[in-house]
Amino acid sequence: MRLLFLGDIVGRSGRRAAVEAIPRLRERWKLDFVVINGENAAGGFGITEAIHQELVDAGADAVTLGNHAFDQKETLVYIERHERLIRPLNFPPGTPGRGASLLKAKNGADVLVINAMGRVFMTEIDCPFRAIDREITACSLKSGADVILVDFHAEATSEKQALGLFLDGRVSVVVGTHTHTPTADERILPQGTAYMSDAGMCGDYNSVLGMEADEPIHRFLARLPRERFEPSLGPATVSGLAVEIDAATGLATRVKGLRLGGVLEPTEPLFWE
Ligand SMILES: [Fe+2]
Ligand SMILES: [Fe+2]
Repeated sequence: MRLLFLGDIVGRSGRRAAVEAIPRLRERWKLDFVVINGENAAGGFGITEAIHQELVDAGADAVTLGNHAFDQKETLVYIERHERLIRPLNFPPGTPGRGASLLKAKNGADVLVINAMGRVFMTEIDCPFRAIDREITACSLKSGADVILVDFHAEATSEKQALGLFLDGRVSVVVGTHTHTPTADERILPQGTAYMSDAGMCGDYNSVLGMEADEPIHRFLARLPRERFEPSLGPATVSGLAVEIDAATGLATRVKGLRLGGVLEPTEPLFWE
């Protein structure tokens, strides 16, 4: 089966590009399941219920989050109603919403989507390694899920690589998000898990992490805020990871980083043509 993961959507430009690309790629690449990280979809900060719906309507089977999960206060309430919207698993007990969701793919497979957040250079929260371990013990590739995807939202590459190898052979995909910059290390790990340290963002790369550069530059120089961060509105690159999975084992048989459009990849890649 074929699965596509797209990294953090930043603002209107990233949203527009992703919403345009998803139905087209679903059709052309015969995708069975699509996951998108939506933590920066609403003007760079969090996600509204309307935007979550827009992504689902475009063909996203699951929308994952991260440290910006609850930047839009309405998310604290509406997240309970949406099984496709998944916030970090290792937030404190009592946090609204869910950290994992078992969802049906187009080919009938049961896909367990897990979102977890790293702890290196980020807020101190519960251990992501143990939280995911508990989750996939309760619902493993052999009992409960045909495919397991982990979106690991983290800053440090070391933590991401350690988690990838910790989960190797027990999940189908470990893909990193949060840095908004794609890495060139996508591969299949020794025991069959597809891995990429960071999927990169869906947004305008002529920016600072998807935001117009003036304010970030000012803050580095002056150490004081001057204005709000505003998403950069130039043409977006849709960035992510395409994975082919053996439906019998739930492990990866093919993996390729995806960059589509915008300044990073103006021409369409030929993967799965
Ligand atoms: Fe992000
Ligand atoms: Fe983030």
